[in-house]
Amino acid sequence: MEKRGTFGSKLAIILTTAGSAVGLGNIWRFPFMTGQNGGAAFIVIYLGCVLILGIPGMISEFIVGRHSQSNAARAYGNVGFRKARYIGYLGILTSTIILGFYAVVAGWCLQYLFASIAGQLNGDTNYILEYFKTFSSDPIRPCLWAVGFIFITHFVVTQGVEKGIERASKLLMPLLLLILVVLVIASCLLPGASRGIEFLLKPDFSKVSSGVFLEALGQAFFSLSLGTACLCTYASYFKKDTNLLKSATQIALLDSFIAILAGLMIFPAAFSVGVQPDSGPSLIFITLPNVFRQAFESMPIVGFVISILFYALLVFAALTSTISMHEIGTAFFHEELRLPRNKATWILTLVCSFIAIFCSLSVGANPNLQLFGMPLMDFCDFITAQIMLPAGAFFTSILIGWMVEQQLVKQEFDNGGTLKTNFFHAYMFSVKYIVPLCILLIFLHQFHII
Ligand code: TRP
Repeated sequence: MEKRGTFGSKLAIILTTAGSAVGLGNIWRFPFMTGQNGGAAFIVIYLGCVLILGIPGMISEFIVGRHSQSNAARAYGNVGFRKARYIGYLGILTSTIILGFYAVVAGWCLQYLFASIAGQLNGDTNYILEYFKTFSSDPIRPCLWAVGFIFITHFVVTQGVEKGIERASKLLMPLLLLILVVLVIASCLLPGASRGIEFLLKPDFSKVSSGVFLEALGQAFFSLSLGTACLCTYASYFKKDTNLLKSATQIALLDSFIAILAGLMIFPAAFSVGVQPDSGPSLIFITLPNVFRQAFESMPIVGFVISILFYALLVFAALTSTISMHEIGTAFFHEELRLPRNKATWILTLVCSFIAIFCSLSVGANPNLQLFGMPLMDFCDFITAQIMLPAGAFFTSILIGWMVEQQLVKQEFDNGGTLKTNFFHAYMFSVKYIVPLCILLIFLHQFHII
């Protein structure tokens, strides 16, 4: 059997796994979710979900993946219970659906990259609003960009783990962070920006409705790439001396930090130009062009360069995430169904392109493409982030907390005793009780059972 790749260095592990976590979830989904759910109070609940449920959840997936060093389904089946394979199957299905609708938004970013190079985003707020509407309701162009994006992902995935994924992440992740900071400063200096900052930092819990908890939980898991065996697949490439607790904590903190930076970039600008904070998925595509134009009014060339750089990095951040989703299914078809890696990659590409086309049409040219009263795109987002991801994390916790031999869990947690750590018992308590109970309570609450 061919040797599996492993990630090269400790830094590479953090960067590639963070590359999977940091993406449109932080820069596109987090701000619009925050906007729709009342601002700061949502962020507080979101951070609670990351710290209390996200970090233990990540460690659990890492344990499963690194223990078995194989694709998601086999990894889950390898910890002592063959039936646990179904958690892996669920994860593969979830990430395939996510890749489908995610590619649509990634495609929008590509369009905006080219539009900013061509100087098409210059105009007042109304013009920018219309620009988005006209583009997204076109029947062909958004579909082409989405499928194009999946093909770019396909290309990187065929290059293999080490060369393709690792090299790109090392260079571009830090650059993304830098540009974000520049844009946060620019946005906060706009006239009237302070109301946006307040919206983000002053929690008003009276606005918290019953759905907010599940939305925050879904957003936390989506952003951490948790609940689909994605982290498990990446952990299967980890080395035996990787500190799982430390990696999970670092990635979760970095991911949340970037999400909050994205909020600080978008809301001050939204308030400044009078765009409603709850305007939904189009939020970043409307506010940001305004930042580029207004904040750099006296130096338009700087605004021009920054906007190109920003969309390029956004595309890149999306790409490191789509690669991780693609890799879950590819590793499965390749190792489990014994297809050549090339063929496995193609299967996933075609299935996801199909989903992407229907999702794209449902929010543009063909609003009749609905399921349960939602456009197909919103439905895919809802069912994955708010049902399938929490379910995946729930079952993983039950598996690790109650079924797998503790010895095995401890072995992975402290790297066979070589790490001195005091957190094992806290971690076990959390996966046994806190994580499954909280997920269950949030579910029951959402469906008005309690
Ligand atoms: N976390 C990524 C983001 O924030 C999206 C993502 C990548 C993801 N891989 C995933 C979400 C697996 C769920 C499952 O953009």
